[in-house]
Amino acid sequence: MNPKSHWENVYSTKSAERVSWFQEHADRSLRLIGEVAQSPADSIIDIGGGVSTLVDDLLANRFEDLTVLDLSSAALATARNRIGSAADRVTWVEADVLSAALPRHGYDIWHDRAVFHFLTTKAEREAYVEATLNAVKPGGHVIVATFAEDGPVECSGLPVMRYSATELHAEFGTPFRLVRHEKEAHATPFGTVQQFVYCMCRTTETGASIETSR
Ligand SMILES: C[S@@+](CC[C@H](N)C(=O)[O-])C[C@H]1O[C@@H](n2cnc3c(N)ncnc32)[C@H](O)[C@@H]1O
Repeated sequence: MNPKSHWENVYSTKSAERVSWFQEHADRSLRLIGEVAQSPADSIIDIGGGVSTLVDDLLANRFEDLTVLDLSSAALATARNRIGSAADRVTWVEADVLSAALPRHGYDIWHDRAVFHFLTTKAEREAYVEATLNAVKPGGHVIVATFAEDGPVECSGLPVMRYSATELHAEFGTPFRLVRHEKEAHATPFGTVQQFVYCMCRTTETGASIETSR
C-alpha cells in the first residue's frame, strides 16, 4: 500500500481519539509556536497536521495565517468539519510534503509532529529538508517532533526513524540553528507511553541554500 492509501485508510477507519498519536491539545507545540511567533499575522504551516487540534487552538489564539498540509483528504475533511465555519480562515493543502508546491519563503513557522520520522531513506529526508528551506522565511522557525532514541520503532504499522536531539538537528544541517530541544513522554489512548523529541530551529537570515551550507 502506498503512503497516501495507508493514511486515507487510517483516517477512514479510525476515529481521531483511537490513534496512538492522539492529543486532546497539542500543548507543547502551541507553547513553542507561541514563544517564537512575532505577531498574530505570522504565517504558520502544520505539516502532516492530520486531525490534530493544533489548528483549532491556533485559531483560538487569534493566529490569522494558518495552513494545514496532509497527504490524507479524509484527515483534512475531518479537521475542517470539526472546526466549522472558522475552517474557511485556514488554507488546507492535500499533498505530499516532499513534492508539494509551497510558496518560496512563505512561512514564518513550520511545525511537524510525527511526520519526519516516517522518512526512512536519506533521499526522502534530504527532499524534506530542501522543502523546509525553500518554504520557510530566512530567520523563520522550524519545529519538528519525532520519536526519540528511546521511542517506538514503528508508528501506525510503519517503520520509523528515532532520533536524539543532536541527531535530529544534524539531519537539517547548518542552515538551521538549534534554538532548543525538549523531550516529551506522550501518553497514548491505549495506556502506553511514547518518547518524543522536539527540536526548534531558526533558519539563517540569509536563507542559504542547503547545497552550499550543509
Ligand atoms: C502520526 S500522524 C501525526 C498527525 C499530527 N501531526 C498529530 O500530531 O496529530 C502523521 C501524519 O502525517 C501525514 N503524512 C505522512 N506522510 C506524509 C507526507 N509525506 N506528506 C504529508 N503528510 C504526510 C499522515 O497523513 C498523518 O496525518
